[in-house]
Amino acid sequence: TVLVVDYGAQYAQLIARRVRECHVYSEIVPSTMPVEEMLAKRPKAIILSGGPSSVYADGAPQAPAGMFETGVPTLGICYGYQAMVQALGGTVARTGRSEFGRTRMQAGTDTVLFAGLPAAQTVWMSHGDSVAEAPEGFRTTGSTESTPVAAMEAPERGLYGVQFHPEVLHSEHGQAVLRHFLYNGAGCRPTWTMVNIVDEQVERIRTQIGGKRAICGLSGGVDSAVAGALVQRAIGDRLTCVFVDHGLLRKGEVEQVEKDFVEATGAVLKVVDAQERFLDALAGVSDPEEKRKIIGREFIRVFEQAAREVVAEGGKEGDDVEFLVQGTLYPDVVESGGGTGAANIKSHHNVGGLPDDLRFSLTEPLRELFKDEVRRVGEELGLPAEMVWRQPFPGPGLGIRIIGEVTRERLEILREADAVAREELSRAGLDRDIWQCPVVLLADVRSVGVQGDGRTYGHPVVLRPVSSEDAMTADWSRLPYDVLAAISNRITNEVREINRVTLDVTSKPPGTIEWE
Ligand code: XMP
Repeated sequence: TVLVVDYGAQYAQLIARRVRECHVYSEIVPSTMPVEEMLAKRPKAIILSGGPSSVYADGAPQAPAGMFETGVPTLGICYGYQAMVQALGGTVARTGRSEFGRTRMQAGTDTVLFAGLPAAQTVWMSHGDSVAEAPEGFRTTGSTESTPVAAMEAPERGLYGVQFHPEVLHSEHGQAVLRHFLYNGAGCRPTWTMVNIVDEQVERIRTQIGGKRAICGLSGGVDSAVAGALVQRAIGDRLTCVFVDHGLLRKGEVEQVEKDFVEATGAVLKVVDAQERFLDALAGVSDPEEKRKIIGREFIRVFEQAAREVVAEGGKEGDDVEFLVQGTLYPDVVESGGGTGAANIKSHHNVGGLPDDLRFSLTEPLRELFKDEVRRVGEELGLPAEMVWRQPFPGPGLGIRIIGEVTRERLEILREADAVAREELSRAGLDRDIWQCPVVLLADVRSVGVQGDGRTYGHPVVLRPVSSEDAMTADWSRLPYDVLAAISNRITNEVREINRVTLDVTSKPPGTIEWE
């Protein structure tokens, strides 16, 4: 394990991911964790993340006592670097000046971190005060115009520091610097591979579930599919997957689960057709939160009923279902451990909140994985590429992409338009470049158009292509004009009720990704 100590910037998760891209397992821990607790995890290396701009900033977190005397190879990045310098008796100058963005750095190439890299390289900086003097016993290994000591190391003591951010792609040799630290500085081996992850998880699931049974709610999304497939691999037909068709799904989604998922995994699948029920419950409702609540509530009721049936059916040896599989990912785990409760922007809906008499233990085989790792595990398990690489899709489905009341006709219209957009994006090879592209139907808006010789009075749809790393923030994707044109032409030609296609060019914040 490599521990990434989180000093409160958004960079910790990125560092953890980059470490894993070097095939070394990493875990994020809070900066308040005492050193003994860190050591109890037997880390092979420790990385201190960036954080506030300066160690002199108000309320800047301190490195815990003994942080630099552990004997565990440690790399300080940005703030973590300044904290290291300060703790070991170097000088952090209160310049009040900041250095931000791409910067040229001169690097010593006969060092551990920069061995074999160009002597002048572009690095990404984002800091206030800078290090004027390295602590005694350290060698200065990098400098920029405004930061005399931009990198340093003391390999005998296993201590390394860099002012820049090696984890961001703008640092041209950043990944190499991390690799050098991990392999050469800390002696880590690249053993975190997909095959190993699958084997390890399967083993753990077997230990956890033993001879019991489990149930897994499939949403049609990547996470629940991969979680289900992993558990299936571990316990075979002692797992039952339940798929609730609430009628708010995309075109072809039910078939994909019923056919492709089952073929790829051999899973026992129970499909519940609850379309009518959801439509009835949503009739006349157009308030977004109201819709979300209704969908969430109905979903739990239907899932609960299905779970009762699965439990009642009993296993081969008559044993009871005892585990509920959930596709919780590592970022959710980190964020819910983060403490500072985020404002409730939207009431997200997932399977949870089951009643007390239906008590399950949870099995969460993806708890340690990032989204891209989940996708690669899915591939390793043989799930079809369309399933593994599909865009994230919200639990309430198309229900929150129809602005206004949800009706069967409107769902039909939106499903067609959405299918066209997805098809054209795939055709253009953009699936892996964009995070997702909701298509939103403005069902209560009409505008005049002309088609053939006739006047039309149809609805607009909005394309909402975004790029993002984690959906917390997003930018609108600059899709090529010809792709936009193809989507627009096809939608207006093929979906009669739609006579206008518009593009959402708002980042998040201030706009959220979905419209409701
Ligand atoms: P927003 O609209 O909040 O969406 O920017 C962020 C990401 O979350 C997805 N999303 C949901 N996912 N249940 C989910 O599982 C939900 O209720 C839900 N609402 C939004 C959204 O598609 C985007 O990827």
